Amino acid sequence: MNKAVIPCGGLGTRFLPITKTVPKELLPIVDVPVISHIIDECVSSGLTEVLIIISPHKEIIKDYFKRDDRLYDELMGKGKTELAEILLSASSKADIKFVTQYEPLGSAHAVSLARDFTGDEPFCLALGDDLTVSEVPVAKQMIEAYEKTHSTIIGVQKCEGDDIVKYGVADVVSNYDRHNLLRGIVEKPPLNALPSRLACYGRYILSNIYKYIDRTPKGKGGEYQLTDALMLQCQEEKVYAYEFEGKRYDMGDKFGALKAAIELSLNRKDFGDDLKSYIKELAATL
Ligand code: UTP
Repeated sequence: MNKAVIPCGGLGTRFLPITKTVPKELLPIVDVPVISHIIDECVSSGLTEVLIIISPHKEIIKDYFKRDDRLYDELMGKGKTELAEILLSASSKADIKFVTQYEPLGSAHAVSLARDFTGDEPFCLALGDDLTVSEVPVAKQMIEAYEKTHSTIIGVQKCEGDDIVKYGVADVVSNYDRHNLLRGIVEKPPLNALPSRLACYGRYILSNIYKYIDRTPKGKGGEYQLTDALMLQCQEEKVYAYEFEGKRYDMGDKFGALKAAIELSLNRKDFGDDLKSYIKELAATL
């Protein structure tokens, strides 16, 4: 498997007002946009062909990945080779293609636009506003899980907090070595009716999905929802929820994005230690 699809066609309303003009997928963790981190995860998992689904208002995502030879030459001319290399690496991460979703008709609709790119091959779907940090890249863990089952795999993690009501929650039949055979997914269940504590986060290996998307009617919010397509697939094929290891941040949520910015910055070589001291000093005043 070498293909990843990153849907970025949504409106990003939870992150207004900045998302009036800046797509949430381009919001930075200091100096690197979320989507660039996601592509790094894909590439280090062996997924070197990437399709990004954008809306007509998000052409700026294309611009981010374009080479800027003029600026590169200028930086090199001034002897700023390190900056020139940083600039170049932003646009040479993977073989990136784009397709436009003209209306935000839902996650299943967005995925349907990847059909020509993926053909009948299984592929990794990485939501453009979900960031993961882990020793073994999460997409790689998911691919390894797929190689054991050859079925669609949904990335899940235990969520013990009340936050779980914001997610799709796995309804599990059986569990073996982090693989949970699914009966279905319950979208945003109330706390008193949780089918499990396994929340579906934004990583999937999708296999044979298009025939179910084609049969998916409009669902919540009048949109074609991927969860509904996966429900259809669960009824006819084995679908597994795989409990991946690592930390996951909801970058479509303001507090989630702030936590990611702080935690990832703590590991930076250039100012991680300074940030640690700063946080300690600040905490003493709180
Ligand atoms: P979300 O539902 O989190 O994104 O979809 P959203 O609709 O932009 O969010 P809010 O609620 O308005 O803030 C998860 C991912 O799927 C993409 C989004 O861009 C996001 O990266 N998506 C969603 C699409 O590509 N197309 C859609 O029609 C909907």
